Amino acid sequence: MGNRLVGYGSYLPRRVMTNHDFAKILDTSDEWIVQRTGIRERHYAADNETVADMAVIAATRALENAKLTIDDIDLIIVATTTPELDFPSVAVQVMGRLNATHDIPAFDVRGACTGYIYALHCARAFFTAGIHERIMIIGAEKLSRFIDWSDRSTAVLFGDGAGAMIFQRSTSSYSGIIDTVVMSDGKCFGMLHGTPDHHIAMNGPETYKKAVTCMPEAARYIMEHAGITADNVDWIIPHQANLRIIQSGAQRLGFPLEKILVTVDKHANTSGASGVLALAYGFDNGLIKPGQLILYPAFGSGLTWGATLIRV
Ligand code: ACO
Repeated sequence: MGNRLVGYGSYLPRRVMTNHDFAKILDTSDEWIVQRTGIRERHYAADNETVADMAVIAATRALENAKLTIDDIDLIIVATTTPELDFPSVAVQVMGRLNATHDIPAFDVRGACTGYIYALHCARAFFTAGIHERIMIIGAEKLSRFIDWSDRSTAVLFGDGAGAMIFQRSTSSYSGIIDTVVMSDGKCFGMLHGTPDHHIAMNGPETYKKAVTCMPEAARYIMEHAGITADNVDWIIPHQANLRIIQSGAQRLGFPLEKILVTVDKHANTSGASGVLALAYGFDNGLIKPGQLILYPAFGSGLTWGATLIRV
Protein backbone atom coordinates (compact mmCIF):
# COMPACT_ATOMS: atom_id res chain seq x y z
CA MET A 1 0.00 0.00 0.00
CA GLY A 2 1.67 3.25 -1.15
CA ASN A 3 0.98 6.96 -1.02
CA ARG A 4 1.63 10.14 -2.97
CA LEU A 5 2.08 13.83 -2.20
CA VAL A 6 -1.03 15.78 -3.25
CA GLY A 7 -0.45 19.20 -1.68
CA TYR A 8 1.83 21.44 0.33
CA GLY A 9 1.67 24.84 1.97
CA SER A 10 3.81 27.08 4.13
CA TYR A 11 3.75 30.17 6.28
CA LEU A 12 6.54 32.49 7.38
CA PRO A 13 5.71 35.30 9.80
CA ARG A 14 6.13 38.83 8.47
CA ARG A 15 8.76 40.07 10.92
CA VAL A 16 12.30 39.51 9.58
CA MET A 17 15.41 39.94 11.71
CA THR A 18 18.74 40.14 9.88
CA ASN A 19 22.23 39.48 11.22
CA HIS A 20 22.81 43.24 11.10
CA ASP A 21 19.82 43.67 13.44
CA PHE A 22 21.45 41.19 15.83
CA ALA A 23 24.75 43.08 15.67
CA LYS A 24 22.90 46.08 17.16
CA ILE A 25 21.88 44.17 20.31
CA LEU A 26 24.62 41.53 20.75
CA ASP A 27 28.40 41.31 20.42
CA THR A 28 28.20 39.59 17.03
CA SER A 29 28.48 40.39 13.32
CA ASP A 30 26.93 39.44 10.00
CA GLU A 31 30.34 38.12 8.96
CA TRP A 32 30.67 35.76 11.98
CA ILE A 33 27.14 34.41 11.64
CA VAL A 34 27.34 33.87 7.87
CA GLN A 35 30.76 32.26 8.06
CA ARG A 36 29.92 29.87 10.94
CA THR A 37 26.29 29.08 10.10
CA GLY A 38 25.27 30.37 6.63
CA ILE A 39 22.32 32.18 8.26
CA ARG A 40 21.55 35.71 7.00
CA GLU A 41 18.04 36.34 8.34
CA ARG A 42 15.14 34.65 10.10
CA HIS A 43 11.38 35.23 10.53
CA TYR A 44 9.80 35.74 13.94
CA ALA A 45 6.15 35.38 14.85
CA ALA A 46 4.37 38.32 16.43
CA ASP A 47 4.02 38.22 20.23
CA ASN A 48 0.37 37.17 19.98
CA GLU A 49 0.90 34.73 17.11
CA THR A 50 0.95 31.09 18.22
CA VAL A 51 2.28 27.84 16.83
CA ALA A 52 -1.32 26.83 16.15
CA ASP A 53 -1.96 30.10 14.26
CA MET A 54 0.97 29.39 11.95
CA ALA A 55 0.01 25.72 11.57
CA VAL A 56 -3.55 26.69 10.57
CA ILE A 57 -2.31 28.99 7.80
CA ALA A 58 0.12 26.39 6.42
CA ALA A 59 -2.60 23.72 6.58
CA THR A 60 -5.12 25.97 4.80
CA ARG A 61 -2.62 26.65 2.02
CA ALA A 62 -1.84 22.93 1.66
CA LEU A 63 -5.55 22.11 1.39
CA GLU A 64 -5.99 24.82 -1.28
CA ASN A 65 -2.95 23.49 -3.13
CA ALA A 66 -4.39 19.96 -3.04
CA LYS A 67 -7.93 21.21 -3.88
CA LEU A 68 -9.23 19.42 -0.79
CA THR A 69 -11.13 20.41 2.35
CA ILE A 70 -10.33 19.49 5.93
CA ASP A 71 -13.06 16.84 5.75
CA ASP A 72 -11.03 14.98 3.12
CA ILE A 73 -8.26 14.44 5.69
CA ASP A 74 -8.48 11.49 8.07
CA LEU A 75 -5.34 12.01 10.17
CA ILE A 76 -3.41 15.13 11.21
CA ILE A 77 0.09 14.86 12.68
CA VAL A 78 1.87 18.02 13.82
CA ALA A 79 5.61 18.04 14.50
CA THR A 80 6.30 20.72 17.08
CA THR A 81 8.53 21.24 20.09
CA THR A 82 7.34 24.72 20.98
CA PRO A 83 3.56 24.58 21.57
CA GLU A 84 2.28 27.30 23.90
CA LEU A 85 -0.16 24.87 25.55
CA ASP A 86 0.70 21.53 27.12
CA PHE A 87 -2.70 20.35 25.98
CA PRO A 88 -4.60 19.92 23.77
CA SER A 89 -2.27 19.12 20.91
CA VAL A 90 -1.66 21.64 18.13
CA ALA A 91 -3.06 19.02 15.72
CA VAL A 92 -6.41 19.05 17.50
CA GLN A 93 -6.43 22.86 17.54
CA VAL A 94 -5.82 22.89 13.77
CA MET A 95 -8.67 20.46 13.22
CA GLY A 96 -11.03 22.57 15.33
CA ARG A 97 -10.07 25.89 13.77
CA LEU A 98 -10.49 24.50 10.26
CA ASN A 99 -14.01 23.42 11.29
CA ALA A 100 -13.64 19.71 10.57
CA THR A 101 -17.13 18.23 10.72
CA HIS A 102 -16.12 14.62 11.35
CA ASP A 103 -14.06 13.04 14.11
CA ILE A 104 -10.57 12.00 13.09
CA PRO A 105 -7.35 11.25 14.97
CA ALA A 106 -5.04 14.22 15.41
CA PHE A 107 -1.87 14.30 17.51
CA ASP A 108 1.52 15.99 17.90
CA VAL A 109 4.97 14.41 17.78
CA ARG A 110 7.90 15.89 19.66
CA GLY A 111 11.09 14.95 17.91
CA ALA A 112 12.71 18.41 18.07
CA CYS A 113 14.38 19.16 14.72
CA THR A 114 13.82 15.55 13.61
CA GLY A 115 10.11 15.95 14.38
CA TYR A 116 8.97 16.12 10.76
CA ILE A 117 10.89 12.92 9.95
CA TYR A 118 9.20 11.22 12.93
CA ALA A 119 5.81 12.46 11.61
CA LEU A 120 6.58 11.13 8.12
CA HIS A 121 7.67 7.83 9.69
CA CYS A 122 4.28 7.55 11.43
CA ALA A 123 2.45 8.43 8.20
CA ARG A 124 4.33 5.79 6.23
CA ALA A 125 3.47 3.16 8.86
CA PHE A 126 -0.23 4.13 8.74
CA PHE A 127 -0.30 3.95 4.94
CA THR A 128 1.53 0.62 4.96
CA ALA A 129 -1.05 -0.73 7.40
CA GLY A 130 -3.84 0.56 5.16
CA ILE A 131 -5.37 2.54 8.01
CA HIS A 132 -5.68 6.05 6.55
CA GLU A 133 -6.66 7.58 3.21
CA ARG A 134 -5.23 11.10 3.46
CA ILE A 135 -2.74 12.28 6.05
CA MET A 136 -1.72 15.87 6.71
CA ILE A 137 1.75 16.40 8.17
CA ILE A 138 2.47 19.83 9.63
CA GLY A 139 5.74 21.16 11.03
CA ALA A 140 5.20 24.33 13.08
CA GLU A 141 7.52 26.08 15.51
CA LYS A 142 7.91 29.31 17.43
CA LEU A 143 11.56 29.02 18.49
CA SER A 144 11.68 32.76 19.22
CA ARG A 145 9.86 31.99 22.46
CA PHE A 146 12.96 30.10 23.63
CA ILE A 147 15.57 32.64 22.63
CA ASP A 148 17.82 34.03 25.33
CA TRP A 149 18.45 37.46 23.79
CA SER A 150 21.65 37.83 25.82
CA ASP A 151 23.24 34.59 24.53
CA ARG A 152 24.93 35.22 21.18
CA SER A 153 25.87 31.57 20.75
CA THR A 154 22.24 30.40 20.44
CA ALA A 155 20.08 33.51 19.82
CA VAL A 156 21.13 33.93 16.20
CA LEU A 157 20.43 30.33 15.17
CA PHE A 158 16.65 29.97 15.22
CA GLY A 159 13.52 31.14 13.40
CA ASP A 160 9.74 30.61 13.32
CA GLY A 161 7.40 29.23 10.67
CA ALA A 162 5.14 26.39 9.58
CA GLY A 163 4.82 24.03 6.64
CA ALA A 164 2.29 21.37 5.69
CA MET A 165 2.19 18.38 3.34
CA ILE A 166 -0.76 16.19 2.39
CA PHE A 167 -0.26 12.57 1.34
CA GLN A 168 -2.93 10.34 -0.15
CA ARG A 169 -3.07 6.57 -0.32
CA SER A 170 -2.08 5.16 -3.73
CA THR A 171 -1.26 1.82 -5.31
CA SER A 172 2.30 2.86 -6.21
CA SER A 173 4.96 1.92 -3.69
CA TYR A 174 7.47 4.20 -5.37
CA SER A 175 5.84 7.59 -4.82
CA GLY A 176 5.18 9.79 -1.81
CA ILE A 177 6.92 8.64 1.37
CA ILE A 178 8.91 5.67 0.12
CA ASP A 179 11.05 4.89 3.14
CA THR A 180 11.92 6.30 6.54
CA VAL A 181 14.36 5.60 9.34
CA VAL A 182 14.39 7.29 12.77
CA MET A 183 16.83 6.96 15.67
CA SER A 184 17.47 8.50 19.06
CA ASP A 185 20.18 8.44 21.72
CA GLY A 186 19.01 9.67 25.11
CA LYS A 187 22.57 9.61 26.45
CA CYS A 188 23.21 12.77 24.39
CA PHE A 189 20.60 14.74 26.39
CA GLY A 190 23.22 17.18 27.68
CA MET A 191 24.30 18.26 24.19
CA LEU A 192 21.11 20.13 23.39
CA HIS A 193 17.96 20.61 25.42
CA GLY A 194 15.32 23.08 26.53
CA THR A 195 15.57 24.44 30.07
CA PRO A 196 12.73 24.79 32.60
CA ASP A 197 12.86 28.57 32.09
CA HIS A 198 12.30 28.10 28.36
CA HIS A 199 15.76 28.65 27.00
CA ILE A 200 18.00 26.55 24.76
CA ALA A 201 21.05 24.90 26.35
CA MET A 202 23.44 23.72 23.67
CA ASN A 203 27.00 22.49 23.39
CA GLY A 204 27.46 23.79 19.82
CA PRO A 205 30.71 22.03 18.88
CA GLU A 206 29.55 18.64 20.27
CA THR A 207 26.18 18.96 18.50
CA TYR A 208 28.02 19.86 15.31
CA LYS A 209 30.25 16.77 15.50
CA LYS A 210 27.32 14.45 16.08
CA ALA A 211 25.24 16.07 13.32
CA VAL A 212 27.87 15.60 10.61
CA THR A 213 27.98 11.86 11.30
CA CYS A 214 24.40 10.90 12.18
CA MET A 215 22.64 12.65 9.27
CA PRO A 216 24.83 10.98 6.62
CA GLU A 217 24.48 7.66 8.48
CA ALA A 218 20.68 7.82 8.27
CA ALA A 219 20.76 8.98 4.64
CA ARG A 220 23.16 6.20 3.67
CA TYR A 221 20.90 3.62 5.33
CA ILE A 222 17.93 4.88 3.32
CA MET A 223 19.86 4.86 0.01
CA GLU A 224 21.19 1.35 0.62
CA HIS A 225 17.75 0.10 1.60
CA ALA A 226 16.24 1.59 -1.59
CA GLY A 227 19.14 0.31 -3.70
CA ILE A 228 20.00 3.79 -4.99
CA THR A 229 22.99 6.12 -5.04
CA ALA A 230 23.34 9.91 -4.94
CA ASP A 231 23.07 9.86 -8.77
CA ASN A 232 19.45 8.69 -8.52
CA VAL A 233 18.41 11.43 -6.07
CA ASP A 234 17.35 14.83 -7.47
CA TRP A 235 17.59 16.82 -4.23
CA ILE A 236 18.96 16.34 -0.76
CA ILE A 237 17.16 18.53 1.78
CA PRO A 238 19.05 18.17 5.06
CA HIS A 239 17.65 19.68 8.24
CA GLN A 240 18.42 23.39 7.93
CA ALA A 241 20.46 24.12 11.07
CA ASN A 242 23.85 25.20 9.78
CA LEU A 243 25.19 25.48 6.22
CA ARG A 244 28.53 23.92 7.16
CA ILE A 245 26.78 20.86 8.63
CA ILE A 246 24.57 20.63 5.52
CA GLN A 247 27.47 20.84 3.07
CA SER A 248 29.76 18.56 5.02
CA GLY A 249 27.08 15.85 5.37
CA ALA A 250 25.97 16.06 1.74
CA GLN A 251 29.53 15.91 0.47
CA ARG A 252 30.28 12.86 2.62
CA LEU A 253 27.40 11.20 0.79
CA GLY A 254 28.68 12.23 -2.63
CA PHE A 255 26.09 14.90 -3.41
CA PRO A 256 27.31 17.82 -5.54
CA LEU A 257 26.51 21.29 -4.16
CA GLU A 258 23.87 21.92 -6.84
CA LYS A 259 21.74 19.06 -5.51
CA ILE A 260 21.59 20.48 -1.96
CA LEU A 261 18.50 22.58 -1.29
CA VAL A 262 19.36 25.35 1.17
CA THR A 263 16.96 27.63 3.04
CA VAL A 264 18.93 28.09 6.27
CA ASP A 265 20.19 31.44 4.94
CA LYS A 266 16.62 32.81 4.83
CA HIS A 267 14.79 30.84 7.54
CA ALA A 268 17.55 29.89 10.04
CA ASN A 269 16.75 26.75 12.06
CA THR A 270 12.97 26.32 12.32
CA SER A 271 13.34 22.88 13.94
CA GLY A 272 10.29 20.68 13.22
CA ALA A 273 9.18 23.03 10.43
CA SER A 274 12.54 23.14 8.66
CA GLY A 275 12.23 20.38 6.04
CA VAL A 276 8.55 21.05 5.34
CA LEU A 277 9.27 24.75 4.77
CA ALA A 278 12.22 23.85 2.55
CA LEU A 279 10.06 21.58 0.38
CA ALA A 280 7.51 24.38 -0.08
CA TYR A 281 10.32 26.83 -0.89
CA GLY A 282 11.68 24.40 -3.49
CA PHE A 283 8.29 24.03 -5.19
CA ASP A 284 7.42 27.74 -5.01
CA ASN A 285 10.73 28.71 -6.61
CA GLY A 286 10.58 26.13 -9.39
CA LEU A 287 13.53 24.16 -8.03
CA ILE A 288 11.66 20.97 -7.16
CA LYS A 289 9.60 19.46 -9.98
CA PRO A 290 6.87 16.82 -9.78
CA GLY A 291 8.29 13.30 -10.00
CA GLN A 292 11.64 14.16 -8.44
CA LEU A 293 13.25 12.03 -5.75
CA ILE A 294 14.18 13.78 -2.53
CA LEU A 295 16.35 12.57 0.33
CA TYR A 296 15.65 14.20 3.67
CA PRO A 297 18.10 13.64 6.54
CA ALA A 298 17.60 15.43 9.89
CA PHE A 299 18.95 15.58 13.44
CA GLY A 300 17.88 17.37 16.58
CA SER A 301 17.67 17.52 20.34
CA GLY A 302 17.45 14.17 22.06
CA LEU A 303 19.57 13.45 20.22
CA THR A 304 17.19 12.30 17.55
CA TRP A 305 18.00 11.74 13.90
CA GLY A 306 16.64 10.06 10.83
CA ALA A 307 15.95 10.33 7.13
CA THR A 308 13.21 9.78 4.60
CA LEU A 309 13.00 9.28 0.85
CA ILE A 310 10.11 11.02 -0.91
CA ARG A 311 9.10 11.09 -4.56
CA VAL A 312 7.04 14.28 -4.98
N1 ACO B 1 28.87 35.95 17.24
C1 ACO B 1 30.19 36.09 17.52
N2 ACO B 1 30.87 35.20 18.25
C2 ACO B 1 30.22 34.11 18.69
C3 ACO B 1 28.85 33.89 18.43
C4 ACO B 1 28.17 34.87 17.67
N3 ACO B 1 26.86 34.77 17.35
N4 ACO B 1 28.48 32.73 19.00
C5 ACO B 1 29.56 32.23 19.60
N5 ACO B 1 30.60 33.06 19.41
C6 ACO B 1 31.98 32.92 19.92
C7 ACO B 1 32.05 32.07 21.17
O1 ACO B 1 31.72 32.86 22.32
C8 ACO B 1 33.48 31.64 21.13
O2 ACO B 1 34.25 32.70 21.62
P1 ACO B 1 35.53 32.39 22.59
O3 ACO B 1 36.46 31.59 21.75
O4 ACO B 1 36.03 33.77 22.90
O5 ACO B 1 34.98 31.64 23.75
C9 ACO B 1 33.78 31.50 19.65
O6 ACO B 1 32.75 32.24 18.97
C10 ACO B 1 33.76 30.06 19.16
O7 ACO B 1 32.60 29.42 19.69
P2 ACO B 1 32.19 27.96 19.21
O8 ACO B 1 30.93 27.56 19.89
O9 ACO B 1 33.37 27.03 19.34
O10 ACO B 1 31.92 28.25 17.66
P3 ACO B 1 31.64 27.23 16.53
O11 ACO B 1 32.59 27.42 15.43
O12 ACO B 1 31.46 25.82 17.05
O13 ACO B 1 30.21 27.71 15.99
C11 ACO B 1 27.91 27.09 16.22
C12 ACO B 1 29.12 27.75 16.88
C13 ACO B 1 27.55 27.88 14.99
C14 ACO B 1 26.77 27.09 17.20
C15 ACO B 1 28.28 25.65 15.80
O14 ACO B 1 28.90 24.97 16.87
C16 ACO B 1 27.09 24.87 15.38
O15 ACO B 1 26.44 25.18 14.40
N6 ACO B 1 26.79 23.79 16.12
C17 ACO B 1 25.60 22.99 15.82
C18 ACO B 1 24.41 23.73 16.32
C19 ACO B 1 23.17 23.09 15.79
O16 ACO B 1 23.12 22.65 14.68
N7 ACO B 1 22.17 23.04 16.60
C20 ACO B 1 21.01 22.35 16.13
C21 ACO B 1 19.92 22.63 16.98
S1 ACO B 1 18.79 21.37 16.58
C22 ACO B 1 17.47 21.33 17.67
O17 ACO B 1 16.97 20.28 17.88
C23 ACO B 1 16.99 22.60 18.35
